[in-house]
Amino acid sequence: MTLAFTLSDRCPPSFMIDENGKCQLVSLYQRYSAPEGFGGLRKPLPEARDGFSPQEIDLGRYLFFDPLLGGDKKTSCAHCHHPDYGYADGRGTAMGFGGSGVGAKRRDGAELERGAPTLWNVAFLRRLFWDWRATSLEEQAQGPLFAAAEMGNTPAQLEADINANGTYRRLFTQAYGLAHDEKIGTALIIQALVAFEASLVSLNSRYDHYAHGDHNALSEQEQIGHNIFRSFVTRCSQCHTPPLFTNVELAVIGAPEPPGKNFDLGADPIFPDMKLRGAFKVPTLRNISRTAPYMHSGSLERLQDVVEFYNDKRGHAAPEEQNLIIHWHITNPNLRKEEETALIAFLNSLEDETAAPVVPNAVPSGLGVVSVEADAGLKN
Ligand code: HEC
Ligand code: HEC
Repeated sequence: MTLAFTLSDRCPPSFMIDENGKCQLVSLYQRYSAPEGFGGLRKPLPEARDGFSPQEIDLGRYLFFDPLLGGDKKTSCAHCHHPDYGYADGRGTAMGFGGSGVGAKRRDGAELERGAPTLWNVAFLRRLFWDWRATSLEEQAQGPLFAAAEMGNTPAQLEADINANGTYRRLFTQAYGLAHDEKIGTALIIQALVAFEASLVSLNSRYDHYAHGDHNALSEQEQIGHNIFRSFVTRCSQCHTPPLFTNVELAVIGAPEPPGKNFDLGADPIFPDMKLRGAFKVPTLRNISRTAPYMHSGSLERLQDVVEFYNDKRGHAAPEEQNLIIHWHITNPNLRKEEETALIAFLNSLEDETAAPVVPNAVPSGLGVVSVEADAGLKN
């Protein structure tokens, strides 16, 4: 069966097409300029990676969901950044090559050291990975594609597979105007993937409606939680700063490892001499309700566990002998039970997947698409 794949000529939600046919981000936050305090409602957005064409974004969508990109022809990006799990994978540490992704059994594949972060709002990040080792989405993508334990592919194999596929050749020509005999290279494949990732924008939660002036968008309990979140008692918003709910920094907070897993040095090997032993990127809290379990290796199952970690166990969850220099904003806020509950209610109000892309029913390789497999009950 030949499926008629075509590329959209419309920008995804949150974007508007400009006179050059490129998609530019549109958000009310871009109108705000006042450098309010850490918890301010109308803090401006950092600049986003935008300016991609609708066609290359849509091409990236097919590539993202296509297991053709995996060395085993089974592992797509979506296996670990799954649309049903907030573009994370619902696992503590990701399952690599050979037994990928959601629901995979441990015996099947290599267990990775860290969990897959959500891809919502990666367009705003300048440093990627839990330890910040990549400085662009382009550099980042080389990691999973060619790491033996992740997608296990090689540039030569990837290019051979894509160029041998008539549908991809046609779609790349539509998106990038390829000459007749021009080869599709790894850089172009990655560019389309980046265009797609950068279109995953989540800035339209009930919290955002509240921030833009709709006072009723949050319940009374959520508003209490919001005030706790930005208080000087908890200082959550000093690291998880709106509107991205990250200050885009590294911090040492002493989160635990799951039982039996070695201590993770975090950013220390990447930035020696910076006193970053055990430091990780401050993750966004957007769609946090969708991305359990939490922390770099998924050691905390529920938001309740995270809040208890901050409330009771601050910084004492890492082994004593690691001598971590825990960030000074990590102190003991002594929240009461109902305050913890309100804080969690607030965190849940950050859910927004209104701009979620359509998961393709089929991809040009004809291989199975992750969500469709899961729907058919094949995920185990
Ligand atoms: C086998 C599972 C797996 C696959 C497949 C996978 N990833 Fe990931 N991804 C991860 C893990 C685990 C991390 C975090 C690793 C770390 O920080 O050390 C990550 C991190 C990322 C990040 C950084 C996010 C941030 O906030 O720093 C991006 C972007 C990303 N992946 C995109 C992709 C793309 C694009 C693909 C397909 C080409 C892909 N991933 C395939 C598991 C996977
Ligand atoms: C000093 C900066 C800092 C402060 C203050 C802080 N956090 Fe964090 N937060 C982090 C870092 C860094 C991580 C990731 C740590 C890791 O993975 O080991 C994190 C992780 C999280 C996670 C898990 C995110 C995920 O995707 O796994 C949640 C939820 C969270 N914090 C909520 C809060 C709340 C609620 C507060 C206030 C009580 C708070 N944080 C205060 C820096 C901070």
